[in-house]
Parts: sequence; C-alpha cells; structure tokens
Amino acid sequence: MIQKALEALRNGEIVLVFDNDNRERETDMIVAAEFMTSAHMTRIRNDAGGLVCVPISSEHSQKLGIPFMTDIMEVAAGKYPVLNELSPTDIPYDEKSAFSITLNHRETFTGITDNDRAFTIKELAKLCKNENQADLGKLFRAPGHVTLLRAAEGHVLKRKGHTEMSIALMEMAGLTPVAVCCEMMDDENGESLSTADARKYAEKHKMVFLNGDDVIESYKKYLKD
Ligand code: 5RP
Ligand code: ZN
Ligand code: CA
Ligand code: ZN
Repeated sequence: MIQKALEALRNGEIVLVFDNDNRERETDMIVAAEFMTSAHMTRIRNDAGGLVCVPISSEHSQKLGIPFMTDIMEVAAGKYPVLNELSPTDIPYDEKSAFSITLNHRETFTGITDNDRAFTIKELAKLCKNENQADLGKLFRAPGHVTLLRAAEGHVLKRKGHTEMSIALMEMAGLTPVAVCCEMMDDENGESLSTADARKYAEKHKMVFLNGDDVIESYKKYLKD
C-alpha cells in the first residue's frame, strides 16, 4: 500500500492518511506541494474542509529561518504578556504544536482564492527545491492565507503528527519535503470525518488510504536501508 501511495504522490495525486486512534483520530488529505494546483485546492477545500496547511521538513524550515509560532509567542511575551497566558501547554492529543507562520506569495491578490493559495504553495516548494530559501522575504509576505507547519527535528521519530508523516511520505517518494495537508471534516455532524467514512471516500475516488503506523514503520525501514 505504501508503494502505491508513493507512486500516487509522485503523480501529483492526493492520498489520505489517518493518524492514530490514540491521537487526533483524523484523516488528512495529503499532496506534494511541488505538484499543487488550483484544482487540488478546490477539491481539498470542498471535500476535506479543514485547515489547509503546508508541512515543511525540519531541514528546510531551518534554511528558511521560520520559527514555531510558540517561539514567536515566547519572544514577544515581554511586550504582550497575554501570549504567555495563551501558551499551548494543554493540547489533548500531543505535546507540541507544529504551527509556524502564515504567508502569501507577493504576486497574489488577497491570497485566499484557490488560484492564489495554490500559487503560494507551489512557489514555496519551488523555492525549497531550488535551495533559494534566502529569497523567502523577497518573494513572500506574512501574515498570509497559507499556514506553515514546521516538522519536528527527527520527524516521525520525534513526533507522530500529520506534519511529520507528510514529510516522511515526501522523502520516501523522493520529492521535495514540502507538502499540503488538510483534515477531512464531516458535513453532517460538525465532527471530523470518521475513519470508516474516510475509507469509503478513498474507495469511491480511488485514492490510497494509509494508517499512520504504516507510514511510520515504512519510514523507519527506509532509514535503515
Ligand atoms: C493543522 C492540524 C492538523 O492536524 C494537521 O494534520 C497537522 O497537525 P499534526 O501534525 O498535529 O497532525 O492541526 O490543521
Ligand atoms: Zn490537528
Ligand atoms: Ca464539504
Ligand atoms: Zn493532524
């Protein structure tokens, strides 16, 4: 199944990844940022419906110089003490949030349209692929409408979120380790889409459905080989 997922990602297709019953219990749509299109964005917005985010590998995050949002809050708390009070020490499913900054490409208008978001995402992947990280501020502005997620150092070996699983998949597929992920929501009951319904969606649309544990195990094997 993992090989099928890697092939799909290399073909610019969306795959579905359920994290774990002991974590968020959510299925994310995941696609390689370097292949992001406006049509993907429309699909993700309509059929997933969660927050569209861009996981970036720890290495590329470092080269871009983008901080975790929590680090920004810590530094700015001297001037804005409320930021200390807001510290996310009580996330019910994980120890640390992956949120970083938000941004738009400077050539977008509002930044939120499917065309704009897809452009921002694809250009960010291109920047990383070409190792032009020093141009981030020249080409992008913040805040914007694309939320960046910074993968933990050590990726899935350290944190088992969709952020790190997205990066593990990109690495195994031989793609630029910048991805797009978005939680699948249930339009009927206000909850996250159940695993059973996410599987049904995958079957109906001929998409690969993966369990987080399988991604993590495959990645560990990949690192050994
Ligand atoms: C951002 C999130 C999502 O759950 C996304 O899957 C990334 O987070 P995580 O790495 O914690 O799973 O909260 O919308
Ligand atoms: Zn989440
Ligand atoms: Ca919908
Ligand atoms: Zn998640």
